[in-house]
Amino acid sequence: MAVVFGGRSNEHDISLISASHIIASIPKDKYDIVMVGITKKGHWFRFMGDPEMIKDGSWESCPDNLPCVISPDPIHKGIITFSGDDVSKVRIDVVFPVIHGKNGEDGTLQGLLDLAEIPYVGCDLISSACCMDKSVTHTILEQHGIKMAKWVKVLLCDSARLDEKCAECEEKLSYPMYVKPANCGSSVGISKVRDLEELKAGIKLAFAHDRIVVVEEEVIGRECECAVMGNTEPFASAVGEIAAANEFYDFDAKYNNAESKTYIPANIPEESSELIRQTAVKAYKAIGCCGLSRVDFFLTEKGEVILNEINTMPGHTPISMYPKLMEHAGISFAEQEDRLIKLALDRAGVDYE
Ligand SMILES: Nc1ncnc2c1ncn2[C@@H]1O[C@H](COP(=O)(O)OP(=O)(O)O)[C@@H](O)[C@H]1O
Ligand SMILES: [Mg+2]
Repeated sequence: MAVVFGGRSNEHDISLISASHIIASIPKDKYDIVMVGITKKGHWFRFMGDPEMIKDGSWESCPDNLPCVISPDPIHKGIITFSGDDVSKVRIDVVFPVIHGKNGEDGTLQGLLDLAEIPYVGCDLISSACCMDKSVTHTILEQHGIKMAKWVKVLLCDSARLDEKCAECEEKLSYPMYVKPANCGSSVGISKVRDLEELKAGIKLAFAHDRIVVVEEEVIGRECECAVMGNTEPFASAVGEIAAANEFYDFDAKYNNAESKTYIPANIPEESSELIRQTAVKAYKAIGCCGLSRVDFFLTEKGEVILNEINTMPGHTPISMYPKLMEHAGISFAEQEDRLIKLALDRAGVDYE
């Protein structure tokens, strides 16, 4: 099998930590692991060094690294490695794409693996893409009666009539609002805005990241997350809670601020927890997710459950919510990885026993 890590998104560094944790946990008696790292610039290398070197990025300077690609041609299935004039191929039965965000969690890598006919862990092309794009997630889930924040979609082609679009936001939504690039992640490009001037600036900032922008009304509530695993009969974990150290769960609060805390299980009423778990599975099925996803919610004071987003390749670092919630359900980290790989093979109809 291959573990692919790194990638061009702003979550590159998180992917490195997730991947080294996953590689350390995958049962070696069952799987031979080929490590493939993608640099921030998008160059692919087969890495053959100590997996410990992945975590801090030092894998990139390993002299044994060889440029490689995954062939999209199923006849030449596998990883093709280039060494001077020599070209060699390693057969791959399954890929664990441990890449968060753009060009990894958004269906692009999944599309390549579909062409190659190589089974892979996690959501397929279309469900990955639908969860990555917050405007598509809104549209699909609302059709299934799943509540999300009130919102307005703004397109780059609306730029010439931005005043009109801002008036629409003000008419449909109250301040404060959150302005988000539809496809990003890690809170990058997101701003909380309190007036028209900030709204305009927020939309312009978001356009630097995407041509589709989602403006949402603020939901006042606790941030709760639920881990889901499975293909046709998904299992939902207990609910965890995030208490952000900053005003909202921005990039700094997520990755730098030790004051941000997670609670497992969340200290919320049993009925709220049950509603979150049921809604997580309903949303997972509505979008057609498979393998795994972490479904994020707000729980309001009145007990309303409002879905925020679905992450199809959630963080897998030792302190990440997804693996911790699954561990809480009695599934060890090694067992989680094994199950995820088997779900990938199952989905592809491969008999692995
Ligand atoms: N509508 C909203 N109401 C309240 N807080 C929000 C809203 N949207 C986003 N946030 C805050 O911003 C954070 C990041 O937004 P999110 O949509 O989860 O983006 P990302 O995909 O980057 O994680 C959330 O965890 C939450 O703290
Ligand atoms: Mg989020």
